[in-house]
Amino acid sequence: MFRAFLEDIFLFFRSVVGVADKGGEIPLSFIPQEIIDEIIARNDIESVVKEYVQLDKKSGSNMFGLCPFHSENTPSFSVNTAKNFFYCFGCHAGGNVIKFIQMIENLTFPDAVLFLAKRVGIEVELNDDPEVRKKHNYYKQMSACLLDAARFFYKSFIDPGAKHVKYYLLRQRKLSAQVLTTFGVGYAPDSWDSLSKYLYAKGYSEPMLIELGLTRRSRQGTRYDFFRNRIMFPVFDHLGRLIAFGGRTLGDDEAKYINSPDSRIYSKGNCLYALNFARKEKGAFLILCEGYMDTISLYENGFKNTVAGLGTALTPNQARLLGQYTKKIILAYDSDPAGQNAVLKAIPLLEKEQIECKVLVMPEGSDPDDYIHNYGKERFSALLDNALPALDFRLLLAKNKASTPQGSVNILVYQDLATDILSGVANAVVRELYSDRLAKDIRVSPASIMEVVEKKRSREYAERPKKERSPIPRRKKSFVLEESAIAYLAALVEDNSIVYDAAEEVKASDFQEEIRSLIEELLSSAKKGELTFPKLLNYLEKADSTLGLKERILPYFSKIRNQAMRSTKDFADEALRGLRISRLEEEKNTILQKLEGETSQEIQTELLHKVNSINLTITKIRNEAGNE
Ligand code: CTP
Ligand code: MN
Repeated sequence: MFRAFLEDIFLFFRSVVGVADKGGEIPLSFIPQEIIDEIIARNDIESVVKEYVQLDKKSGSNMFGLCPFHSENTPSFSVNTAKNFFYCFGCHAGGNVIKFIQMIENLTFPDAVLFLAKRVGIEVELNDDPEVRKKHNYYKQMSACLLDAARFFYKSFIDPGAKHVKYYLLRQRKLSAQVLTTFGVGYAPDSWDSLSKYLYAKGYSEPMLIELGLTRRSRQGTRYDFFRNRIMFPVFDHLGRLIAFGGRTLGDDEAKYINSPDSRIYSKGNCLYALNFARKEKGAFLILCEGYMDTISLYENGFKNTVAGLGTALTPNQARLLGQYTKKIILAYDSDPAGQNAVLKAIPLLEKEQIECKVLVMPEGSDPDDYIHNYGKERFSALLDNALPALDFRLLLAKNKASTPQGSVNILVYQDLATDILSGVANAVVRELYSDRLAKDIRVSPASIMEVVEKKRSREYAERPKKERSPIPRRKKSFVLEESAIAYLAALVEDNSIVYDAAEEVKASDFQEEIRSLIEELLSSAKKGELTFPKLLNYLEKADSTLGLKERILPYFSKIRNQAMRSTKDFADEALRGLRISRLEEEKNTILQKLEGETSQEIQTELLHKVNSINLTITKIRNEAGNE
């Protein structure tokens, strides 16, 4: 059991390269050709291939084995040790050692280069700048610290004192010791500060422990562990580098799961749980599910092509990452309304990456882990075979939405929702096919459905090209950047670290919709400690020169520096409160608009309740300001 865990750690060491960058996207132009040549030279192709393929028969400088890239019974896969390449006479795969690693490990070219560099102990230094080097050293220490934490959790898991934890996972959750080891599962003991003490004694600094989310500081100034009495799931990036933890409660804690916060080496929205394993599966599709437990349980049952999000809705970056590894995904989210909504939101993001989506349909209220325990892996496999194409799934939900709880369908509502969906389908043949099917379903003529679909489609068209064709990039309707946003950005540039210690984590959605993608970039730059004033201006110029921010932001810098009693953080917190109030006001206005057109009394009451509760929240935020 321990060995496999050590192998994971070994894989981790083997693949941690010079920097622990977020998500391994190192521009190749940063790695000089001489270094790439040296990496190729030092990774003798025979020994690399032998780690994956049994090579024996020799003829001249060619060695032969069974090809790992297609299935065969007689060896047609050759390695030429003189010319340093491989070639398969069966499937014609071939190339140098980097190509081999790309194919067998399913890595991009830069990642394969880094993988091989690590294999022979070459440090790829990406930059000679001492400042950058210092930062990279810090990242390396952060990685080491996480690894020490993982060891600590593992040790306390195998400790006799943690019998109940093993009982829970092995007996109640029916996982094997082996799969737990593969995933590096551990246990955070029921103690206030044993991990913090341990890591601090090892020499890791307090700010580092806090940034990694392992340690917190109480109001009295004492250090305490963030993860206590929890099952610990290490989170690895796609190359198997440890970057974070998720912890599941064993007690009756309100939060079932808590997770490492984003830090300079971790950003939830850019990673996927278990992608380090799943990317190696050569199957036709990946399974995307919601949880740690689902993933591990599916892996245990042979579905190793499974990944999960990390406690957030699927992000565009995660979709992009998935698109690098697969062109087909089966979504296996929890079968409850929240899960179904999450699926509806994930589908367009995945389709944008040219990924074909299907949706697993399970009995109401279950998740993949429950299902497999109740019905077994054969039936789960059948579910995968019968997964619904995304379009069918959307139509099915539309039908449910148009039905009473007793199951009688309101045909008018259903056809309206369904034709809305179909009118958005780009492929004319698909539109016609599904229109036909819908017509049969509600017993009207296919022609009438087609007519509605095409009419809705042309209406959509009529609206679209105008916007797209517009010759002058139109200034967004009277968009004015709000003062709170400017104040916050000033504080952020003044001190990048406030991005970590605000009372509540700041998000792009705290800002006006028009600038959210820009804010996303700014925040991630600040998280790396790299957001300077010139950089901010640079970003803004790229985004939209009409924001007029340069003139407006300058006074805030002197304001921040001249405030006698308050810190930059206090200043930022105040700005943040301003932002949140604005967002709440926006939400309220949308509801009030809806209210105007609403005739049903029931819905009116519901909307008014919402308005009330928003008002309460706003008052609460205003009071917080007063207490400071
Ligand atoms: N999650 C989270 N924070 C929470 C609840 C959930 O980050 N407070 C994330 C976790 O990544 C978790 C996933 O959402 O794995 C799914 O949560 P949930 O369905 O509630 O849990 P299960 O995976 O079903 O866990 P279990 O089977 O152990 O109850
Ligand atoms: Mn579950």
